[in-house]
Amino acid sequence: MKVPKRLQPLVDEGLVDTVLRQLMSGKEATVYVVRCGDDVRCAKVYKEASQRSFRQAASYQEGRKVKNSRQARAMEKGTRYGRKMQEEVWQNAEVDALYRLAAAGVRVPRPYICFEGVLLMELVTDADGHAAPRLAEVDLSMEQALLFHAQLLREVVLMLCAGVVHGDLSGYNILVDADGPVIIDLPQAIDAAGNTEAAAMLERDVANLADCLGRFVPALLELQYGKEIWALYSAGLLTPETVLTGRVAAPARPADVGAVLREIDIARREEEERQRYLQQD
Ligand SMILES: Nc1ncnc2c1ncn2[C@@H]1O[C@H](COP(=O)(O)OP(=O)(O)OP(=O)(O)O)[C@@H](O)[C@H]1O
Ligand SMILES: [Mg+2]
Repeated sequence: MKVPKRLQPLVDEGLVDTVLRQLMSGKEATVYVVRCGDDVRCAKVYKEASQRSFRQAASYQEGRKVKNSRQARAMEKGTRYGRKMQEEVWQNAEVDALYRLAAAGVRVPRPYICFEGVLLMELVTDADGHAAPRLAEVDLSMEQALLFHAQLLREVVLMLCAGVVHGDLSGYNILVDADGPVIIDLPQAIDAAGNTEAAAMLERDVANLADCLGRFVPALLELQYGKEIWALYSAGLLTPETVLTGRVAAPARPADVGAVLREIDIARREEEERQRYLQQD
């Protein structure tokens, strides 16, 4: 096909020889299949910030480090230079996460380079060499679903041990190749230690795995792996070898009924206040 404008710099640099076809065009990126020498690879072209959606949200950015404080101030102020920096941080976040996770033993596509807003990486394929399907789109036996669930939990643990929470894990961001699940789509990956939303994001990621594979094994929906993994992590007890049960002990402390009643009372009074205010108009 004709070389898309955004891929031209990679062709000019000799990083890509030809563009074979467009694979997907999503909300955040357009993905192409390209030839580089003898290899067929995948090129992910990020859309401009204005076309991106939720993952740009502040909750994902917290804890991300930039090189110096001038850049940090410019990014906060939203100057032109600041927005450019923000773009670079976003575009490099995925390639950085891929390198970090590959080193930690997580199954992710092998990254090659991020150049001019394009991430060049390994094309994940099925047994026939076609672009691999997404987990949300494959039919599995109960045994396969259980095996994939166990493998993916292990990947989540490996990621967390490397300090990373995916933050948008779901059956749409997991591909299935001949050896099982491969995790993709990491520009929003968050810093487990530096982001106050990390626990909630991890729980959501793990719940999404159960939702996806619970189609074949409904019992998965009952388990609490997310809470268990986070509790072990925050206690400094999580290792890649940790055996998980999917159960968390009920809190040993008796529930503070008085505090709950006080919360209810405050909410009731706020509502009364609001109603009074509305009636005044
Ligand atoms: N390395 C890869 N190998 C094979 N297919 C890939 C690869 N990376 C991405 N894809 C395909 O492209 C799709 C979009 O990629 P990705 O999820 O990284 O981008 P996105 O920004 O989330 O797009 P969307 O908004 O559609 O989710 C994936 O669902 C997958 O089908
Ligand atoms: Mg995606």
